[in-house]
Amino acid sequence: MFFFQNPSLIRLGLKAPLVTNKAVSNVFHKTTPSSIAATIKNIAAKRSLSAVSTSNVTFATSSALRFNARGSSFFTSPTRSFSTSLKQLNIASQSASKPTSKWPANSHKAVGYLCIGTSILVFAIVVLGGLTRLTESGLSITEWKPVTGALPPMNEEDWIAEFEKYKASPEFQLLNSGMDLDDFKFIYSMEWSHRLLGRIIGMVFVLPTFYFIATKRVSLKTSAKLLGICGLIGLQGAIGWWMVYSGIDTNLLEERRSKPTVSQYRLATHLGAAFVVYCAMISTGYSVLRNQWIMKNPSEYAKYFQQIQSKSLSRFKLFTKGMFGLIFLTAMSGAFVAGLDAGLIYNTFPHMGEDWIPSKAELFDPVYSRVKDQADLWWRNMLENQATVQLEHRILATTTAIVVFATHMYSHRIKTIIPRHAYKWLNISMGVVTLQYILGMCTLLYLVPTDLAAAHQAGALTLLTCALLVINNLKKPSKANMMILKKYLEESAKKSGAKPLN
Ligand code: HEM
Repeated sequence: MFFFQNPSLIRLGLKAPLVTNKAVSNVFHKTTPSSIAATIKNIAAKRSLSAVSTSNVTFATSSALRFNARGSSFFTSPTRSFSTSLKQLNIASQSASKPTSKWPANSHKAVGYLCIGTSILVFAIVVLGGLTRLTESGLSITEWKPVTGALPPMNEEDWIAEFEKYKASPEFQLLNSGMDLDDFKFIYSMEWSHRLLGRIIGMVFVLPTFYFIATKRVSLKTSAKLLGICGLIGLQGAIGWWMVYSGIDTNLLEERRSKPTVSQYRLATHLGAAFVVYCAMISTGYSVLRNQWIMKNPSEYAKYFQQIQSKSLSRFKLFTKGMFGLIFLTAMSGAFVAGLDAGLIYNTFPHMGEDWIPSKAELFDPVYSRVKDQADLWWRNMLENQATVQLEHRILATTTAIVVFATHMYSHRIKTIIPRHAYKWLNISMGVVTLQYILGMCTLLYLVPTDLAAAHQAGALTLLTCALLVINNLKKPSKANMMILKKYLEESAKKSGAKPLN
């Protein structure tokens, strides 16, 4: 029979086994949650807790209940659904007079669906944002009204009023003076849809987050992550306006010596923040769902548990993190190419014009320097010179492709210790990076047509998703789930007579 020494009890100096699995298991399967708590409390009190104060008893019993509840149903029937016992466990621990914590160890699966579902909307807004930029619609709304701006112009009068505001902007005066009301309606609708989708994402994510936190359907750690994502969504709205402002404020345009377009720095910040929100949602949602899958099917995840413990996997984990970082960096350099319209020069590949790379004089042109001693020559050219920025993007993209290929080749050597899903996502990454590279080349060769450029942007996010899923599938599950998997392996080893795990 399996005995569990609860860490909370050990901390209290109670080293003897407290409750057997069977005792708890019987209690669990036959009684209601509140009586479970009471009965467990009784069992504990009768055994060895008489010397401990009442509050400690409550503390100890709710903890014992929490572990044993999982452990018992796990060992008596490994394939049985764990979500029920988890639920019972949380309710039961809460119904005790002074529970240790009101937060469940694992978040409800709805939290995972919320994150993954909203990440699809974020993917859509990134593509819509790209289309808004490519159709040169981004500067059509010259105000930022987070609440009232949700309503579009309702009648012809409203449209004319909006058009008048746009006529006062540098973009209309310098680039679009021949535009009529119908053309304006198109660019306005693009930008308005982009902003509306942003508002929808905010509502769809923030409201359920508060609901899940208020009803304690989410673990403490995950609730902190969800609140962080809510903050980032709000910040992203502000960054969006900060970016648009750089294209309509005449002083800023003069300072940048630029035609009326947004600053490439602010565009990259906006795109980068969107990527961060997206990755945070995928990562949080995936780990919530994976913890649920583990609880439902521990026997399958036991093998996975052994794999991720392996020391030989640490180098591979490092590679995959490097791969993710490099994809992110390449995407950010792509934002600079897009922000500077640097895809409209050197439309040849792999050569840049007549040569492999432009001359040094062109790549580090003093005209970009803003100080007398030209101390900023190097970095200004790297971030503001179209030719240099395009060359950087080519170099980074090529390095990314090589690193993905190399990681894939390395994965073959240690295939047996790589978790199945991580291996699968790495294979997919190979295909996606190849497509993305070809799409990038075509975007350049065909002078940035809207459809190819939008597909290229979506490709970057798809590639990033694949790399993120590789990393997520190499991560350890939550502490509670790790304990269960470990106990499962120990028990299996005992049964088969094999050496137990360390
Ligand atoms: C791993 C491979 C690559 C990744 C992750 C990547 C990523 C990106 C991203 C995120 C953008 C910004 C899109 C936007 O904001 O609209 C971009 C733009 C661009 N990329 Fe790539 N890229 C890759 C490979 C390439 C290659 C090989 C080329 C061609 C040599 C290329 C050419 C371009 C061009 C011309 C643009 C500007 C498009 C525009 O103005 O909308 N990319 N890239």
